[in-house]
Amino acid sequence: MNYYYAPMEGITLYPLRNVHREVFGAGVDKYYTPFLTAASTFHFKNREKKDVLPEKNSPLFEDYGTQIEPQIMAGNAENFLWAAREMKKLGYKSVNLNLGCPAPTVVNRHKGAGLLQDMEYLDKMLAEIFEAVQEGAIVGGKPYNKRRDEEKLAELGSDVYPEVSLKTRLGFSDPKEADALMRVYAKYPVKELTIHARVREDYYAGTPCLEDFKHALQIYRESGGQASVCYNGNVDSTDSLQKLLEVIAPDNDANGSESISSIMIGRGLLANPALVRELKGGEKLQPEELKKYLRKLYDAYAEYIPEDRNVIFKMLEHWAFLHVHFKASDKCLKNIRKSRSKDEYQAAVNRIFAECEFV
Ligand SMILES: Cc1cc2nc3c(=O)[nH]c(=O)nc-3n(C[C@H](O)[C@H](O)[C@H](O)COP(=O)(O)O)c2cc1C
Repeated sequence: MNYYYAPMEGITLYPLRNVHREVFGAGVDKYYTPFLTAASTFHFKNREKKDVLPEKNSPLFEDYGTQIEPQIMAGNAENFLWAAREMKKLGYKSVNLNLGCPAPTVVNRHKGAGLLQDMEYLDKMLAEIFEAVQEGAIVGGKPYNKRRDEEKLAELGSDVYPEVSLKTRLGFSDPKEADALMRVYAKYPVKELTIHARVREDYYAGTPCLEDFKHALQIYRESGGQASVCYNGNVDSTDSLQKLLEVIAPDNDANGSESISSIMIGRGLLANPALVRELKGGEKLQPEELKKYLRKLYDAYAEYIPEDRNVIFKMLEHWAFLHVHFKASDKCLKNIRKSRSKDEYQAAVNRIFAECEFV
């Protein structure tokens, strides 16, 4: 079984990816970047571009092109293909298309989970994407020009595009929509299909629909879908993993390799950065390594963003999940939240480790 760090906007940026890799080792098989928007201007925002620059990746990613996968948010094939090519030029071997973001601003622009509302359009978009990927044809960015594009192809080699994976939900408002969606996905040579076992209307709340996930997977396979399938949703402990596998993969062998090949984890890793090690049978999170992780993360964010206050805001995003490890910690957490300088913050963090029982 492979374990992936889920894409999370504003969170799984290179400071976190690098520090997590450094402190918790090579257990996570792949890290997804937060989505990069493939804008119709054919430019990325500076901060998005910065996040995928190869020199920002720690050397501990000895093969970053396969260990880190950029995620792309796009509402049409042309923009997606342009962004995918840019990622290929930077050395990434595969990119992921976001078909799950539930934010109204995204959905209303027919991107993210908005694409699940119009399956005919989605089918056409995927057909254009995979046709170009298979043929190496350059169709993004500028109108297709046979002579110019053939010259460019010769220059780049036939390897113009990275492989394409998809991250979807079971539907927009009803998991029953998954049947038709899976039939669409099964038509294309998708590298990996990640299914977040919820619909858009669920956002991130409630329990994932495991039976619906299992059914969707069955339809995908029956329709000829060949991609490796990755499960996503609420894996946060060995217990939750076991319960999940009992439902969705009761016939799997010990590696779970028959029906799903990987599990993507988001919030579970924010709450317990050692979770993948635990799931692989290793040691539980230790307070000392959490302390080290937090110290290094602070320093990495301090290089990434100016001003203590902004760095502390970033750290608070992690504390919103990490506080579960500290018993009776309300007062200490309040001090962390109230801190305005690096010194105040560090003193508050030292206090929570010294005064609250670690669980
Ligand atoms: C703060 C936050 C930001 C997210 N940003 C993205 C994103 O950029 N792209 C994406 O596909 N999913 C995004 N997600 C969804 C996660 O990748 C994942 O699908 C979701 O959290 C469910 O998995 P989990 O229960 O393991 O957290 C985000 C989720 C959260 C909580």
